[in-house]
Amino acid sequence: MDDRLMNSSFLAEDSAVEQTLRPRTLRDYVGQKAVKDSLGIYIEAALSRHDALDHMLLYGPPGLGKTTLACIVAAEMGQNIRVTSGPAIERPGDLASILSNLNAGDVLFIDEIHRLSRQVEEVLYPAMEDYAIDIMIGKGPTARSIRVDLPKFTLVGATTRAGQLSAPLRDRFGMLFRLEMYTPEELAQIVRRSAGILNVDADEDGLLEIARRSRGTPRIANRMLKRVRDYAEVRAGGHISRDVAREALNMLDVDELGLDKVDRNVLGCMMDKFGGGPVGLDTLAATTGEDAVTIEDVYEPYLMQLGFLMRTPRGRICTPAAWAHMKKNMPAAAEAQIRMEI
Ligand SMILES: Nc1ncnc2c1ncn2[C@@H]1O[C@H](COP(=O)(O)OP(=O)(O)OP(=O)(O)O)[C@@H](O)[C@H]1O
Ligand SMILES: [Mg+2]
Repeated sequence: MDDRLMNSSFLAEDSAVEQTLRPRTLRDYVGQKAVKDSLGIYIEAALSRHDALDHMLLYGPPGLGKTTLACIVAAEMGQNIRVTSGPAIERPGDLASILSNLNAGDVLFIDEIHRLSRQVEEVLYPAMEDYAIDIMIGKGPTARSIRVDLPKFTLVGATTRAGQLSAPLRDRFGMLFRLEMYTPEELAQIVRRSAGILNVDADEDGLLEIARRSRGTPRIANRMLKRVRDYAEVRAGGHISRDVAREALNMLDVDELGLDKVDRNVLGCMMDKFGGGPVGLDTLAATTGEDAVTIEDVYEPYLMQLGFLMRTPRGRICTPAAWAHMKKNMPAAAEAQIRMEI
């Protein structure tokens, strides 16, 4: 699925453009109203007290704006941001050295924070709680640990899998923010802004069509805008109208709800091979040939958002809406199954 248009994970092609499209202020950050409202208040309060902001955890599916928000927090606080990630910090010493190089007020952003090893996490606990780290001096029986104070900093952790975070780590965050999928109107606002920055000629209907098909995810919306622009340049004199957007996205195998081949394969498999479910995640992964983690993190959130999929203790079930969208007749047994679950 490497260069899939609908892959919500970060791809190489995103890097250059993602930088220019990234909003830099809370005002320009579209949607996520609840998160923005509370953050705005905490930032204002911290600024007026000349204090660092409390540590915060941002979680939610890929491409919804966690990294963007972390950068905005630093900018709004007027502080520098230091960016690293769970897998990049291999040893406790690596983290200790990052921490001891922070300046007062700095924002330390740790992406994929659920992937920190247990030993590294233990360095983080006193750092978050007491702004201090314990360093071992010497070896063997004469070894002792000394406590080194750190400047007051703000840790911003991001993860797509909040469930995998250890409880002690999760408890040390003062704020937990869950990012939600965006509505088509919000996504239209995002691509409108991007079209302006990239100088793309598009009308409102064209933008809304892209928004509707980008599965609630700004990263996908921006990527689609670029692909549709290319199509428009070659086939339609550069102008993106609703029809042009439709043609371009149909050609890319993205349907009107934003489902692509993999989504349809997942739903189709569930319907054809398992009568619509319930089917377990691993079985589903094996029969579709997709990775279980990818199904869970990338495909399911949107299928559930659409109300196409239900998670039950016995497995995943397709809803009547999913059967209708796939233009398949829902068997009576599947209907009975759903009624039982509700
Ligand atoms: N609220 C928003 N308003 C406008 N643009 C946004 C918003 N959220 C995200 N974007 C756009 O989407 C792109 C992807 O966002 P970002 O890199 O912050 O996602 P992420 O949640 O960190 O993803 P990952 O889990 O892969 O790290 C950004 O380049 C930005 O242009
Ligand atoms: Mg990110």
